[in-house]
Amino acid sequence: MPTRILFVCLGNICRSPAAEGVFATLVEREGRSAEFELDSAGTGAWHVGEPPDARMRRAAEARGITLTGRARQVTAADFDRFDLIFAMDRQNRTELLERAPPDQRHKVQLFRDHDADAPGEDVPDPYYGGADGFDDVLDIVTRTGASILASIRHPVPPSGHD
Ligand code: 4NP
Repeated sequence: MPTRILFVCLGNICRSPAAEGVFATLVEREGRSAEFELDSAGTGAWHVGEPPDARMRRAAEARGITLTGRARQVTAADFDRFDLIFAMDRQNRTELLERAPPDQRHKVQLFRDHDADAPGEDVPDPYYGGADGFDDVLDIVTRTGASILASIRHPVPPSGHD
């Protein structure tokens, strides 16, 4: 069974597609793609159907990472389907916890609680800021994604007996 991970921000055009794309790249580099099913979504619906923000895509491309997918809003079914739901900021986490059925709330975590440099912090929203904000997001999601990936154990390989 793959580990199913959903990354969530407000618009699903900047931070969560970046977190998803970067995590997918980290997973690929370790040859672990079969272990994960990844997606991203937004708590808001303003950008539904749009590709990731062009500024975010450019910044990612400069690091050899292609951001794909179209923005969608979080649905009730997501709480069932995913094993881990990472909120990019505390407001996203509050909204997710409000929408999650009580028995699924444990799946909702603040993404940067896995960032040893700044646990409890938000991934800053780069939407209204300058170009530096997008690179900053990529640095944060790379560092934090690597920490999350390292914390999810490899499945035990077949023993090779018989
Ligand atoms: P994201 O960034 O949540 O990282 O996708 C935003 C995108 C759009 C808006 C806010 C944040 N907006 O207000 O339209």
